[in-house]
Amino acid sequence: MPGPGLTRNILAGLCTILMGVHLGFHGGTTPLAFADTPANCSFDLIQGQWRFYIGPGGKTNKVDCSRQWKAVSRWTVTLHFPDVAVDKKGMTGFWTLIYNQGFEVVIHGKKFFGFNDYKVITKKHVISYCNVTSGWVHNSDGRDWACFRGEKVAGPGVGKPPPTYTAGELDESRLYKQNAEFIDKINGKQTSWKAGWYSRYDNITMGDLQRRAGGRKWKNAYPPPTVPNDITKAESAHLPDEFDWRNVGGVSFTPPVRDQGICGSCYAFASTALQESRYRVLTNNSIKLLLSPQEIVSCSEYAQKCEGGFPYLVAGKYGQDFGLVDDSCFPYTEYNEPCRPVTCRRFKTSDYRYIGGFYGACNADLMKIELLRNGPIAVSFEVYDDFLYYMSGIYKHTQLTDTYNPWLTTNHVVLVVGYGFSGDDPETGEKYWIVQNTWGNLWGEMGYFRIRRGTNEVNIESMAVATLPRP
Ligand SMILES: *[C@@H]1O[C@H](CO)[C@@H](O)[C@H](O)[C@H]1NC(C)=O
Ligand SMILES: *[C@@H]1O[C@H](CO)[C@@H](O)[C@H](O)[C@H]1NC(C)=O
Ligand SMILES: *[C@@H]1O[C@H](CO)[C@@H](O)[C@H](O)[C@H]1NC(C)=O
Ligand SMILES: *[C@@H]1O[C@H](CO)[C@@H](O)[C@H](O)[C@H]1NC(C)=O
Repeated sequence: MPGPGLTRNILAGLCTILMGVHLGFHGGTTPLAFADTPANCSFDLIQGQWRFYIGPGGKTNKVDCSRQWKAVSRWTVTLHFPDVAVDKKGMTGFWTLIYNQGFEVVIHGKKFFGFNDYKVITKKHVISYCNVTSGWVHNSDGRDWACFRGEKVAGPGVGKPPPTYTAGELDESRLYKQNAEFIDKINGKQTSWKAGWYSRYDNITMGDLQRRAGGRKWKNAYPPPTVPNDITKAESAHLPDEFDWRNVGGVSFTPPVRDQGICGSCYAFASTALQESRYRVLTNNSIKLLLSPQEIVSCSEYAQKCEGGFPYLVAGKYGQDFGLVDDSCFPYTEYNEPCRPVTCRRFKTSDYRYIGGFYGACNADLMKIELLRNGPIAVSFEVYDDFLYYMSGIYKHTQLTDTYNPWLTTNHVVLVVGYGFSGDDPETGEKYWIVQNTWGNLWGEMGYFRIRRGTNEVNIESMAVATLPRP
């Protein structure tokens, strides 16, 4: 059990939340099975001066940081706006926030990543300890692993009461009921997209549907897009008005549409699809993989199984530190099944980043440039209840609510594969992104949807992720 004064570090993620392990300085494993609530650590609570306590090094990626360990060294690192880390001797490095869950620091040839601590008071009430983090550190080349724990010692928030979070309430076992009246309302309010009836939602519980749509959201955690600079604007303006990786001169570079089922594994599917498509682009379709989301769900400590995760940490960091395996090596079961070691080939990520360079630097022009240059990109967005009825067209949130189904807005992760505009004129037509979803190919436009582009619709332009696979 954790000692007095220690908080439990609940690993929390994007397609929702939970399952926790105490990672820590003084050690002790406390697996917890909550079905709720995250840390909510904003930028200002993380920036400032940190002390990192580092355990014995020389380990491999099999190091178990849930076991007890003792610090053998201590580093002081100051995190400055927006992405500069500085050590005591004035050496500079890089850092980024990862949503509101944790952060990554790269300095002095070392890469640190940890989730922030938080403490669950009740199922609905959580305290975030944004001044405490724990996780892993290794050399930038992937060697010399150790566990670390960080404590913020100076800067905003230090000495102030920690932020608390009260979650919305949802009757998870209640059955979802499709609402014909709501569909009519959506279709009556606008003509940009069409809503319709999905018979597959019959008899699905609200809890499962919420997980499928990415899980609960943390209000206000999406950073606003940045204003593109002149170079970005000029470069973006020179790109074609439409582009689609499904059809580049008759050739497709996109993987098949898949179905995540009722597991909150959108982040794992978006991560495999990102890697698959980027391998295709990088190798001119000579490497066409189908990678395993289940191995990620079952084995990645950088995500929360069927309760969510982030492409930055999965396609990116997990891909770099461990690599992804072929789908046949660990086939999809839709459940939180335990990890079993496999010896299949691992396909690795050589580089990963938030588009723009760090969390909070994204915008639509940068997304377009990256998409065209290196292939599809992973994005996150908020699923409102109207989106569940999307059939075709260019989605925009209608602001209408489905009074019959008490929906809590969720975070979902998907793959942008192209962009275009409606009508004949790129100036006056409605601009959109083309997005591959993971709800099967009977959903939407054969598994895809289009969504308004250039206006950060439902926050889709706020935190896109790009990776570079290692062939
Ligand atoms: C973190 O913040 C909380 C609340 O402000 C405080 O009680 C605690 O001592 C801090 N932890 C560390 C390790 O500084
Ligand atoms: C999360 O933190 C941000 C920034 O401090 C705040 O605006 C937001 O309301 C918080 N969200 C919740 C659900 O508490
Ligand atoms: C939903 O459940 C009812 C009652 O169990 C059943 O009659 C019906 O066939 C189910 N619908 C679907 C689409 O499975
Ligand atoms: C890519 O592959 C296509 C089809 O096999 C081939 O026609 C084309 O020349 C290749 N392009 C490059 C740059 O190798």
